[in-house]
Amino acid sequence: MTLLEVRNLEVTYAGGAQAVRGVNLSVEAGQKLGIAGESGCGKSTLALALLRLLPKDAEVTGEILLNGEDVLAMKWGRVRAVRWAGASIVFQGAMHSLNAVHRIGDQIAEPILLHKKATQEGAKKKVAELLEHVGLPATRANAYPHELSGGQRQRVMIAMALACEPDLIIADEPTTALDVMIQAQILRLIEQLVAEENLGLIMISHDLAVLSDTCDRLSVMYAGRVVEEGPALQVYEDAVHPYAKALSAAFPTIGDPASRFAPRGLPGDPPDPSALPSGCTFHPRCPVALDVCASEDQVLRIAGPGRRAACVHVGSAEVAATEVEARSTTA
Ligand SMILES: Nc1ncnc2c1ncn2[C@@H]1O[C@H](COP(=O)(O)OP(=O)(O)O)[C@@H](O)[C@H]1O
Ligand code: SF4
Ligand SMILES: [Mg+2]
Repeated sequence: MTLLEVRNLEVTYAGGAQAVRGVNLSVEAGQKLGIAGESGCGKSTLALALLRLLPKDAEVTGEILLNGEDVLAMKWGRVRAVRWAGASIVFQGAMHSLNAVHRIGDQIAEPILLHKKATQEGAKKKVAELLEHVGLPATRANAYPHELSGGQRQRVMIAMALACEPDLIIADEPTTALDVMIQAQILRLIEQLVAEENLGLIMISHDLAVLSDTCDRLSVMYAGRVVEEGPALQVYEDAVHPYAKALSAAFPTIGDPASRFAPRGLPGDPPDPSALPSGCTFHPRCPVALDVCASEDQVLRIAGPGRRAACVHVGSAEVAATEVEARSTTA
């Protein structure tokens, strides 16, 4: 059975912001899906929606099937259980997610005591195992969050996410606040744990290079929609959608001579989700937009084996590639 299947997910915040619009995705056990996009594209909203962590007044429609069970139709008791034992989230910035006045061991033990109905002794043993599993000495259970480095705190967050043996881990910018060396260590740790337990992983980041290194498949989001999806390396190295192209060029591979000709990011910002542009929402920023793009909405179309993209140029992708390069070298 597919571990996670999301069908036509839509999220509209109370103020009218259409943060997620018709997202479809699926994750199998052992599969690592990366979700990329600039800040404000709806990535965190999507992650929070998966476990019903959005504000109550947000309108959520569609289907979220976790192990075949619709998360949106669950009673609250079931949702709480599923948040630990079905899927769990690792957030960015562990300092804000950990409670400053409690020892980390007690914080990791809490869900184990609650959801696994373990004894105090059993939970203590499990905490020690988890800490060692994420590369921390078991004695760190007695430490308070402020006594740990940023990387160590993120390891604690990962231990906590694993506490009730979930099938799926959702990691929302898990390394963004860390320096590059520690970032690489944490990514390797996540990869190792996911492989060992055959877990599903959804990794969210604005950095396509990080995602292509860690994930099997990539979905690139823009203005609440998936605009390109496919095998991670192909999307990173040879994106079809002009937005995905610009995003991958913003994080060039070090030492790649071709990256010298790539645009340094995109001018402008993603649109306000409560006042989206007409047609293809990317058209005001798109270097290869046609007249029709301002009025015609684009849905995902086949862009190769296992690949899809939502652009009028899909089918004539070479033309788009040449034009993007031409503009960036003359700019
Ligand atoms: N609680 C909220 N209420 C209203 N709008 C929100 C809320 N949270 C996020 N948004 C808006 O939804 C859009 C998507 O945000 P978010 O999902 O955080 O994007 P990302 O994680 O890709 O940066 C943004 O325009 C943001 O301002
Ligand atoms: S549909 Fe048009 S505006 Fe949208 S990405 Fe393609 S070329 Fe650009
Ligand atoms: Mg976010």
